[in-house]
Amino acid sequence: MEQDRSSQSRPPHVLVFPFPLQGHINSMIKLAELLAIAGFKLTFLNSHHNHERLVKFNNIAAHSERYPGFEFKTITDGLPLDHPRSGNWFLDTLEDTIELKMKESLREVLVNSSPPVDCIIGDGVLSFALDVAKELGIPIIIFHTNSPRSFWVSYSIPDIIQAGELPINGTEDMDRLITTVPGMETYLRCRDLPTFCRKLDIEDSFMKLVVKKTRKSLQADALILNTAEELDGPILSQIRTKCPRVYAVGPLHAQLNTRLNVKHGESYDHFSNTLWEVDKSCIFWLNKQPNRSVIYVSFGSITSTSREQLLELCYGLLNSKTKFLFIVRPNSVIGKDGEGEDVVMELMEKSKDRGYIVNWAPQEAVLNHPAVGGFFTHNGWNSTLESIVARVPMICWPYFADQHVNSRVVSEVWKIGLDMKDVCDRKIVEKMVNDVMVDRKEEFAKSASEMAKVTNQSVNVGGSSYSNLDCLVEDIRIMSLKKLTK
Ligand code: UDX
Repeated sequence: MEQDRSSQSRPPHVLVFPFPLQGHINSMIKLAELLAIAGFKLTFLNSHHNHERLVKFNNIAAHSERYPGFEFKTITDGLPLDHPRSGNWFLDTLEDTIELKMKESLREVLVNSSPPVDCIIGDGVLSFALDVAKELGIPIIIFHTNSPRSFWVSYSIPDIIQAGELPINGTEDMDRLITTVPGMETYLRCRDLPTFCRKLDIEDSFMKLVVKKTRKSLQADALILNTAEELDGPILSQIRTKCPRVYAVGPLHAQLNTRLNVKHGESYDHFSNTLWEVDKSCIFWLNKQPNRSVIYVSFGSITSTSREQLLELCYGLLNSKTKFLFIVRPNSVIGKDGEGEDVVMELMEKSKDRGYIVNWAPQEAVLNHPAVGGFFTHNGWNSTLESIVARVPMICWPYFADQHVNSRVVSEVWKIGLDMKDVCDRKIVEKMVNDVMVDRKEEFAKSASEMAKVTNQSVNVGGSSYSNLDCLVEDIRIMSLKKLTK
């Protein structure tokens, strides 16, 4: 009883546990910062490997100063430190290595935590955290960093199979509509399903794993999704029929900016959480370009391209006559180390001052730069949200995971871009770049601006995401009190 009383006077202790990839860390760290602003004690459980990079490329000391109750702890991701972790390494090692090792370490951290953890916010991919939380009697909320619509498609896969709409026959029309995902009947086609659905085998082990994890996450006390009611309302209603407590608190990067500006003023220098060295020279280059004249080309932190694809993209850009800022991550071209470097050199030479190429950019700052008028993206969910908030229309070239669904929504539902999925041809690249940057520029600028307006309102004081975050904070307080009195 004595312990209960003293515990109640301390702030709730939340442990945030992301899947060890840049795209997942980005949104989860932002959520953690928002909870720290609300006065919670935070433990951010990173992998050793990613934490090393976080410390190397960011000002962690400044971060600790800003958030005194925010602590980083690290555990293994199951791989040796010198493993390259490039390409789809995590798909091959997920169940056998990552989960096995991380589960053990998570349990250890929780058992030894002082003060005890009152609530876990676990990444939807790491659904084993549910078992550990249950065993130790700790409330758990699952955060899916991917888009709500892709979550809903993955949830619905058994129904799609049951209705005979999967498997996709190898020779069939990929534009056939999938009619068994409630709320998406009018626009979801075979080609918009996650790529693992393209296999002929409906017993495919990866597809089964995704469905299992998606459905298992509904056992959590609640779900957090990085979206706004205004962006994904119809699908959130569908998800709420399976899990009534769904907090739509996004776009998280925009909500964090709002809350920090309210607290510290507009000029506040925000913490970055990059895992690569940021090349800020691209901002100086952008400073010299006319308004909305540059297309920003970047395919996130995991995507790799073949040498042939890179060539088509490069010549499409060159032939379009539009200025471009191209991000080519080291080792992102499939093949031997350094493969594709000649293509990049060729592009640099031929584009002269019309193009600029870097390894990694400060993406939020780039998208918000007045010189940027379009985003050629793979539609990772963070990139999609960052583009919406910055009112930048998109050309979508999805790679995997939720990106095929996202690109369809961008082009067909929100009408703020063009979808280039399943194609990589220089003539089409050229045409799409010209459409977005020149021929249909005003049309896209108008729709992107309208979308940005409602989205940005959702994270302002009194907006839907702002209020949903307040509810989440309150509910975590109640959950942790209930845990103490059990
Ligand atoms: C992955 C998945 O692909 C995505 O669909 C899922 O929703 C989350 O995890 P990733 O492929 O890396 O992430 O894409 P994305 O979600 O867009 O995240 C990339 C992040 O890296 C963005 O926040 C972006 O701002 C940042 N970035 C990218 C940079 O800071 N600099 C760059 O040069 C490129």
